[in-house]
Amino acid sequence: MGKSVLVTGGAGFIGSHFTEYLIQQYLDYEVRVLDALTYAGRRENLAAVDTHPRFTFIHGDVRDRSSVQQAMQGVHYVVHFAAETHVDRSILSPDAFITTDVYGTFIMLETARQVGVERFVHVSTDEVYGSAEQGAFTEQSPLQPSSPYAASKAGADLLAQAYHRTYGVPVLIVRPSNTFGPRQYPEKLIPFFTLRALHDEPLPLYGDGQQRRDWLYVHDHVRAIDVVLHKGQVGEAYNIAGGNERTNIEVSRLILHTLGKPESLIQFVEDRPGHDRRYALDDSKLRALGWQPQADFEIALRQTVLWYAQHREWWQPILQEQLEYREFVEQWYAQRQ
Ligand code: TYD
Repeated sequence: MGKSVLVTGGAGFIGSHFTEYLIQQYLDYEVRVLDALTYAGRRENLAAVDTHPRFTFIHGDVRDRSSVQQAMQGVHYVVHFAAETHVDRSILSPDAFITTDVYGTFIMLETARQVGVERFVHVSTDEVYGSAEQGAFTEQSPLQPSSPYAASKAGADLLAQAYHRTYGVPVLIVRPSNTFGPRQYPEKLIPFFTLRALHDEPLPLYGDGQQRRDWLYVHDHVRAIDVVLHKGQVGEAYNIAGGNERTNIEVSRLILHTLGKPESLIQFVEDRPGHDRRYALDDSKLRALGWQPQADFEIALRQTVLWYAQHREWWQPILQEQLEYREFVEQWYAQRQ
C-alpha cells in the first residue's frame, strides 16, 4: 500500500541518496523532503527527483515547530537525517549542533507523538559509542561520545529512545559507520582529500594518520535504512557497518593512486582534539534482517573519487567557503599547543 514518507535533511548527502532510492524503489510512495538548506543542504542534490510527481520539497528547519507540523501532516513514515554532522565544525562552533541535533530531534519526536506516525527512523551515528580501542560495539554498548558533535547525536539518540519508552512513539534507531559516495560535502575526509589532490595541494592528515574508520558506501547505507524502516522492530537500535576498516593513511594513498598523484602530497598536521582512534561496529542484528553490504570498497572509492573529478560544477561553488573554513580549523588546532 502506498505510503507518505517525510525525509528530513533530504537535500544533504545521504538524505538525497535515500530520497532518490525511495522514489525509484517504491512506485506508490510519496516522498516529502524537509530541509533548511544550510551550507551542506543543496537543491542540486535532489536534481534527479525534483520534478517527479511523487516528490515534494519543503524549505524549513527541524527546530521550527510550525514547519515540522506542516511537513508531518498525513505522513506514515519519518526518516530523520537532518543534523549538523562535522566533528571539526562542532569543536569550533558547537551551538548549532546542540540546537539542530538535540532540540531539532526533540521537535521531530514531539510532532510525531502528536501526529501519530506509523514509524520513525532516527539516523544516529557510530560516534555515539566513542572510540573502540579493540573489538566492536554492539547496540548494547554504552554511549561515550567524545566530540560535541557525537554528544549532540547521543543526546538525540537517547531522546528518541525515551519517546519510545514513555509515549510509545514507534521509533527505530540506526547507527551507521563513516559513509562515503558522490555528493558528500567536501569537509569530510574522502571528498576533501580528493579535491586537494585534484588541485595538487597537500592532504592534511591529522596526527599520525593511523586512526581507523569503517567505511560504508552510501548505497549500502540507504538499503540498510530501507530494511530497518520496513522490517526492523520498533524500539530497537541497529548498527550499520561497512566492513571496510582502513587507516586514514591507507585511504589517502588510495585517493592519490586513483588520481595518479604522488604520495608526497600527504602532510601530517596538528591532531584534532579528542580525536577518536577507531570506530568499529558489530552489525549482526541488522544482518539478521537480511541486509549485507554489497559494495567493494576499493571500487566504490575509486568511483567516488572519479565522480568528484568529473563534477567540477557541483563542488566549484562551495570550494572557497570550505577552504577558508579549513584554514580557520587548522589555525585553531595549531594555536591550542
Ligand atoms: P571525517 O571525514 O571528518 O569523519 P569522522 O571524524 O566523523 O570520522 O574524518 C575521518 C577521519 O579522517 C578522522 O579520523 C579524521 C581524519 N581526517 C584527517 O586526518 N584530515 C582531514 O582533513 C579530515 C577532514 C579528516
